[in-house]
Amino acid sequence: MTTINLHNRDFLKELDFTADELIYLIELARSLKAAKKNRTERQLLTGRNIALVFEKTSTRTRCAFEVGAYDQGAHVTYLDPSGSQMGHKESVADTARVLSRYYDAIEYRGSRQAIVEELAEYASVPVYNGLTDEWHPTQMLADFMTMLEHSGKPAGEIRYAFMGDGRFNMGRSLLITGAILGADVRIVAPRALWPNQELQDQARAIAARSGARVTLTDNVAAGLNGVDFVHTDVWVSMGEDKQVWDERIRLLLPYQVNPQALAMTGNPNVKFMHCLPAFHDDKTSLGREIFAKTGLKGLEVTDDVFDSPMNVAFDQAENRLHTIKALLVATLADPDDLAAGVHVASGHRPNGAGR
Ligand code: CP
Ligand code: NVA
Repeated sequence: MTTINLHNRDFLKELDFTADELIYLIELARSLKAAKKNRTERQLLTGRNIALVFEKTSTRTRCAFEVGAYDQGAHVTYLDPSGSQMGHKESVADTARVLSRYYDAIEYRGSRQAIVEELAEYASVPVYNGLTDEWHPTQMLADFMTMLEHSGKPAGEIRYAFMGDGRFNMGRSLLITGAILGADVRIVAPRALWPNQELQDQARAIAARSGARVTLTDNVAAGLNGVDFVHTDVWVSMGEDKQVWDERIRLLLPYQVNPQALAMTGNPNVKFMHCLPAFHDDKTSLGREIFAKTGLKGLEVTDDVFDSPMNVAFDQAENRLHTIKALLVATLADPDDLAAGVHVASGHRPNGAGR
């Protein structure tokens, strides 16, 4: 078995990691999850400090970083969208150099990927991408952990589809991560919302090496046929203009995850996944606003799917904690303490190897 050492590594996008490294992080998360449930978790990060810089709002990512850090004995500082000088009064590079003097790691959520890449360039401590417009890599660890748990299959045998805006973080990350891990990954969306040609080519080149099957289609029946999991995401992402809602609803309503769509999978055990938050009812202010305008109660997913046993999005949300904790431990713990303190299984190698 290859030895994986992620000590001091940044976590900026999936493309920077090998399949073995991503699977290692998931295996570490499984081990940490079991230890937390059995109350046998050992703290490997006592005395570490982590800066959490959020230029966009968050529930899961922020809480997962905070609880993951606390469980491991580390401390965090949360800087909210208006709480730091970065960007307006102080450059990204200067902020990176200052935070590196106080903290052992920096998490950043914002808009352009270039910002988190610049932070990492100037920081002397690991930088984690907590979501940009282009990538959501910590979400991918949780998504694959959840698919491995629910399917019992190795990553290379999992089949999944993403229905939604394939140009944004979730569609792009699911495409590339599936390609790296050798899965059968399908982007099911109108052509106007497919990831750009460069990313498609990149996914296909990676797939040629990993054995992944990559499909982009605007045909819902063909795209969903035989999948184990159907993923979706909000139709309008954080930072986008509210004016795009009308056009997005027009383009994506045929790609809504509803019982008819799930029936097209032909798989009675198909599971529904969503990074959350989701618009599936009129219990949010935005949901009510859209309902008043369009009469649509559910958007990307209907309530009957969301409130069904097919929905594993809350397991997926829980796994954000275990996987983000694994990332903190893998990059910040003393490697000898890590080797002595957590047992990481060797299973779930891509393409069925290691079964
Ligand atoms: N899935 C996700 O990133 O959720 P938050 O926006 O609440 O962090
Ligand atoms: N695409 C969504 C994901 C939220 C976790 C957004 O960027 O708002």
